[in-house]
Amino acid sequence: MDNLRIAFIGSGSMGSAVLDGLIAAGHPKPLISATTRTESKAKALRDRGVSALAGETSPDANALMAGDADVIVLGVKPYQIVDVLTELKGEIGKNVVVISMAAGIKLATMAAVLDENPNLIRTMPNTPALVGKGVTGLASAASASPEAIAAAKALFEAVGSVVVIPEEKIDALSAVSGSGPAWVYYIIEQWEKVAISEGFSEADAKLMVRQTLAGSVELLANSGEEPRELRRKVTSPGGTTERIIATLDEADLQGIFSRSLKAAVARAGEIANS
Ligand SMILES: NC(=O)c1ccc[n+]([C@@H]2O[C@H](COP(=O)([O-])OP(=O)(O)OC[C@H]3O[C@@H](n4cnc5c(N)ncnc54)[C@H](OP(=O)(O)O)[C@@H]3O)[C@@H](O)[C@H]2O)c1
Repeated sequence: MDNLRIAFIGSGSMGSAVLDGLIAAGHPKPLISATTRTESKAKALRDRGVSALAGETSPDANALMAGDADVIVLGVKPYQIVDVLTELKGEIGKNVVVISMAAGIKLATMAAVLDENPNLIRTMPNTPALVGKGVTGLASAASASPEAIAAAKALFEAVGSVVVIPEEKIDALSAVSGSGPAWVYYIIEQWEKVAISEGFSEADAKLMVRQTLAGSVELLANSGEEPRELRRKVTSPGGTTERIIATLDEADLQGIFSRSLKAAVARAGEIANS
C-alpha cells in the first residue's frame, strides 16, 4: 500500500477528505496526485504539496494523472462517473484498481465502460474521514483480485474503519453512515435551538449540547455498556428523563429514522436508474 501511486480524480469534499487522511496517515505525497475542475482548487492542492491539475486549464488532466496510477479514486459527482470513466478508458492499465465513491452508481455501470478492468471497487465513505474517524462501506466486483480489495481496504483504513459488504447493502449503508454525519449534525442543530429557546445564550447552548454529545460518545466507547444500559442509568422511574424518552417514543422517532433511511435508499435507486 505504501508504494502505490494513487490518483484522486475529483478532489472536492470527499476526495480531499480521503486524500488528506491518507497524507496524515503517512502515505508519501509524491505518490499522490489529484484533479479538480477549477484551477483555483488545483492550486490549493498544489500549495499543500500534492501534484494536482485542473480540467479547465489542462483538458487532459484526468488522463494524465490516472495514466500512471496504481489506484484511481473517483471523487466526482455520480452523474459524472460514466463520462469520466469513458475519458479514462484506454489510458489506464488493465490491473489498475478503480475505486468509486459515488452514491448510487453500480459496479455493473462501471464495468460496462471499463470492460477490460477486473479490479472495480465501489465505496461509500463519510466525512469524518477528514479526522481519521470515517466509516467506509466497500463492495467489490466479483472479478476483483484479493490484492485489489486489500489495497482499497487499506486505503480507506488510513482514514478510519472499513465495512466490507455485498453491493446490494451499499445504499442502506450509505443512508446510515455515508449520510450519517448529516443525521448527527441535524440533531445537534435542533437540540441547540431548543436550548436557546429556553433562554440559554448561544455559547452556553453549544457547550451543553456538544460537550454532552462528545462526553456521551466517549462514555459509550469506554464503558463497554450498550446505549440502552447507559440510558437507563440516566432515567429514574417517574423522573424527568423518562418523560423525554416517552415523548420521543410517542413521536415514533424510530419510525421517522426508518422512513428517512428508506427515502435515501429510494433516492439511490433513482440515481442509479437515471
Ligand atoms: N460529501 C459526502 O459526504 C460524500 C459521502 C460519500 C460519498 N460521496 C461521493 O463523493 C463524490 C464527490 O462528492 P463531493 O461531496 O466530494 O462533491 P464535490 O465537493 O463537489 O467534489 C467534486 C470534485 O470533482 C471535481 N470535478 C468536477 N468535474 C470534474 C471533472 N470532469 N474531472 C475531474 N474532477 C472534476 C470538482 O472540482 P471543482 O471543485 O474544481 O469543481 C471537485 O473537486 C460523489 O460521487 C458523492 O456521491 C460524498
